[in-house]
Amino acid sequence: MEYALVTGATGVLGDGFCRELARRGCNLFLTGRSEEKLDGLKKELLAANPAIDCEVFAADLTREEERESLFEAAKIYAFNMLVNVAGADIQKPFEKYDEDKIIFQTRVNFEAAVSLCNFAIKHRAENLKIINICSVCGFQPMPYFALYSACKGALIDFSVALSAEMKKKGVTVTAVIPGSIYTRDDVREYINSLGFWARRSAKTPGYVVIKSLKAAKKGKRKIITGGLNKLICFFSKLTPQGIKLRYIAKTRARVEKDVF
Ligand SMILES: NC(=O)c1ccc[n+]([C@@H]2O[C@H](COP(=O)([O-])OP(=O)(O)OC[C@H]3O[C@@H](n4cnc5c(N)ncnc54)[C@H](OP(=O)(O)O)[C@@H]3O)[C@@H](O)[C@H]2O)c1
Repeated sequence: MEYALVTGATGVLGDGFCRELARRGCNLFLTGRSEEKLDGLKKELLAANPAIDCEVFAADLTREEERESLFEAAKIYAFNMLVNVAGADIQKPFEKYDEDKIIFQTRVNFEAAVSLCNFAIKHRAENLKIINICSVCGFQPMPYFALYSACKGALIDFSVALSAEMKKKGVTVTAVIPGSIYTRDDVREYINSLGFWARRSAKTPGYVVIKSLKAAKKGKRKIITGGLNKLICFFSKLTPQGIKLRYIAKTRARVEKDVF
């Protein structure tokens, strides 16, 4: 039996991926930090889709030893899909970071995704589709969101390079690059506090899930979700860096997010 491995399954977007993959009849191996949330999700998924299998394993992906335990439990399965959703969108002035916060955000947004790619490639079924959830923030250095945007930028570059390495080896890698997504309450509130264009370009988790799975099926290297987001990214490339940095600093300095 082949499985889809989903990280961040207990989050809002991750939950969307799990429900859609289960609906399509995929066997699931899910991970998140909370065993209780994972067990609840497993119960719901199996009740709605009795024909699938669903395994869960709780792990903090920023800890090598917990990743090792996860890999130990998962290595008996063959994976035909990996969806790296886990991430932490901490937003605050960099001078307010401490060492623990730097390690946490860097590891969950980049190192963990890279490590999971390595594991899934080594334990792949005949074909493997990797989806890495990045962000449009990865296209542009962002004051007050500096570490997040740098990690997501690194994940985009890593995904594109890996897709070329794994070409013709039965593995596709798709960097999914969404703009804002209506997920957690604080994220929804933040999107609603932004201007007209930010609200217009924001998408539902369901939209991002469907677009991601479609792009992975076609073996695309990267996709920006939403026509307006594509347009904003295009015009952003034409805008001088200084103007963009001033605008981003002004809008991002208003709100701090550190819920992790
Ligand atoms: N929302 C947006 O506007 C937006 C836009 C672009 C990209 N994204 C990206 O989309 C992804 C999902 O975001 P979301 O809005 O759905 O956020 P979310 O609801 O907060 O989900 C984040 C997920 O990551 C998991 N996670 C966090 N730290 C972890 C760790 N150390 N070890 C293991 N798992 C960990 C969380 O687990 P717990 O349940 O244990 O906390 C949760 O399942 C993220 O990668 C985010 O960067 C979001």
